[in-house]
Amino acid sequence: MKSFLNEKQIVIGVSGGIAAYKSSELIRILKKQGADIKIIMTENAGKFVGALTFKALSGQDVCAGLFDGKDGGSIRHIEWAEEADAVVIAPATANIIGKLANGIADDALSTFMLAVTSPVIICPSMNTHMYESRPVQRNLNTLEADGYIIIEPEEGELACGTTGAGRLPEPHYIADRLISTMFPSDLKGKKVLVSAGPTREPIDPVRYISNHSSGKMGYAVARAGEYRGADVTLISGPTSLPPVAGVKMVSIESACEMADAVFDQAENADIIIKVAAVADYHPKSISEHKIKKEEDVLSLTLDKNLDILKELGSRKKDQFLVGFAAETRDLDQNALKKMKEKNLDMIAGNLVGGSSSGFGSDTNQVTLYFSDGAKENLPVLTKDEVAHILFDRILVSMDGGRPAGK
Ligand code: CTP
Repeated sequence: MKSFLNEKQIVIGVSGGIAAYKSSELIRILKKQGADIKIIMTENAGKFVGALTFKALSGQDVCAGLFDGKDGGSIRHIEWAEEADAVVIAPATANIIGKLANGIADDALSTFMLAVTSPVIICPSMNTHMYESRPVQRNLNTLEADGYIIIEPEEGELACGTTGAGRLPEPHYIADRLISTMFPSDLKGKKVLVSAGPTREPIDPVRYISNHSSGKMGYAVARAGEYRGADVTLISGPTSLPPVAGVKMVSIESACEMADAVFDQAENADIIIKVAAVADYHPKSISEHKIKKEEDVLSLTLDKNLDILKELGSRKKDQFLVGFAAETRDLDQNALKKMKEKNLDMIAGNLVGGSSSGFGSDTNQVTLYFSDGAKENLPVLTKDEVAHILFDRILVSMDGGRPAGK
């Protein structure tokens, strides 16, 4: 299964801050995803981490000086700039930020940067007062206006002994932002509402009824929407997944809480994708105290939960409504029935139970059904890939239709 960074040409610029050591971890993460990594470092970066470390981790010669290399370093910089799919400067010191904002090219990194045409992410990292100083803020505003993506530093204890904004964000977060630059912003201006994960229906203070949903598919949908520029709200039942960067998260437990949260957000949404595995029933009464095992047989009376998606379908005005149907048999029949009954524009159906599909798996094999009768069988894909195809099809459908046969 390919990662979105597979064979992508990524250049990491390292300038001379204490966080330079974190670039090693960033290289490792990106390499693991199949990216081809090249490093350009400033002279001061070399005082924190040796070029040999970066060479060993990236598997390539490191560019540390303007006239480095047998073949003339300055020409190599232009080649690297032309080949780059994305560039990240981590850490970016006040000095490199100032140079970039003013078009100064007096070393390998700053010279290279003037030739770059791909997306660029700048990760400022320095002492809090330096970061908040007017010149640095002015320069960052200039860079933002020039189209650079600025990742704000995290707050915390800094190496210089002060506490405040200035820490380089975690390498995984920087890698995530880098992946987001690989996608078009074709959902910009769209509000997307996603529900994910299971719900829990309490029985007593220590027990509940739930299901095996891991939330992975819904989180992948939220992530894909955010990567492509949408304003995404993710309403999530309990999962063990980390929050999705750039997404407004709303945590709920029961189906009733999910219904409240969804209806609260639904009116403003352009696209609603209900991936959540909502419990269909809840215990009629919740015991105030832990139920003791006194009886040989214990019966629970369950009341039906509101069908949130059906309710959204009945209220639908100018919205694109997508459901998910996880079935154990008769996929076509069940998915089509749900699409009709809930007034959906599209439903993604999958058969659960296989090792490459469904709950907990990182992959899914989905069939898409459209309200105009079209059907598309997708192969086994990562849930992230499925999520992007979902948005591809939604955009085409919202734009007025699909090519015949799709
Ligand atoms: N759904 C919902 N509210 C419910 C139950 C389901 O919004 N109370 C949504 C799910 O989020 C999903 C779709 O409806 O997008 C289909 O859910 P699923 O559990 O497959 O089907 P049900 O409609 O519950 O029907 P059944 O359990 O009989 O298969």
